[in-house]
Amino acid sequence: MSPDARILSALRRTGDVGTSGAELARDLGISRAAVWSRIEELRKLGYDIAASPHQGYVLRGTPDRLHSDDLISRLPADRILGREIQVFLETSSTNDIVDKLARDGVEEGVAVFAEAQSQGRGRLGRRWESPAGKGLWMSVLLRPSLHPSAATQLTVMAAVAVARAIQNSTGLVPDIKWPNDLLFHGRKCGGILLELGAELDHIRHIVLGIGLDVNLHASDFPPAVRSLATSLASELGRSVDRPALAAQLLSELDSAYRDVRTGRFAALADEWEQRCTTLGHRISIRTGSREITGTAESLDEQGALLVRTEHGRLERIVGGDVTLLGTSPL
Ligand code: BTN
Repeated sequence: MSPDARILSALRRTGDVGTSGAELARDLGISRAAVWSRIEELRKLGYDIAASPHQGYVLRGTPDRLHSDDLISRLPADRILGREIQVFLETSSTNDIVDKLARDGVEEGVAVFAEAQSQGRGRLGRRWESPAGKGLWMSVLLRPSLHPSAATQLTVMAAVAVARAIQNSTGLVPDIKWPNDLLFHGRKCGGILLELGAELDHIRHIVLGIGLDVNLHASDFPPAVRSLATSLASELGRSVDRPALAAQLLSELDSAYRDVRTGRFAALADEWEQRCTTLGHRISIRTGSREITGTAESLDEQGALLVRTEHGRLERIVGGDVTLLGTSPL
């Protein structure tokens, strides 16, 4: 951990009680003057750190900006996902950055955030609006020992982790629409883009990209999607602490990913089924040139959607665009 991450972590741990420059210097193995100079740098980044002769240093406020040291200071040391965190002010797409890291042979777990993306992309080649400082636009590198046909498990685990993070941070309970949309009252506030580097029989790497509309207002969305989209701030009626949510998201992703790695996918799938508004509904689904209409029955053990068609056949769907036909479950 860098000195800044260790200082922020100590300030968080000691809360209103505070910690002295001498204690920080001892814990970090640096001089008090060096501690003071790091505190000054953190203040310049927007961290409100009060200093008093009695209490020492107290963290009074944090900026609405993502910083890797800050995120690291909020996470447990033994994490896999978010092992290394990079934050860009602007990039084309965080999925591109992580894909490059994957091809360079970097270990799994590295997470990349950007305050803004110029070419954010969604599923099915769609554009993903990523205005500066308003959302969470992030990607993480995974190298699971799974057959490519089981990659859908990771979409399911990511959707559950995002839903849990939103719920823990805000109290809002999002719906999941298969395979990976996060919705409130039918309006989308987040999505997941899984990009796979694979051989026929094994996954080389997966870039898991997550976009969450956190503090966007209606005017931040292009007119064409305005009536279909929402944000956590719009749902809550107040803005959300993005760095705290980002840390919560990494922590939930880490815990859900451990479950997948240790063969505990079934419990995640059960939770997904409970949170999913697609199951039990008549849907139509476009996969490539086919359009299938039927009832979404369940998930299989790989995370694929099982749809009972109007002819009574059970179709296994691994990707596509779902439209709910009518709102009442059958
Ligand atoms: C979708 O619902 O279509 C998926 C949207 C995924 C958007 C995220 S934002 C971070 C990452 N970088 C991208 O370019 N896309 C994903």
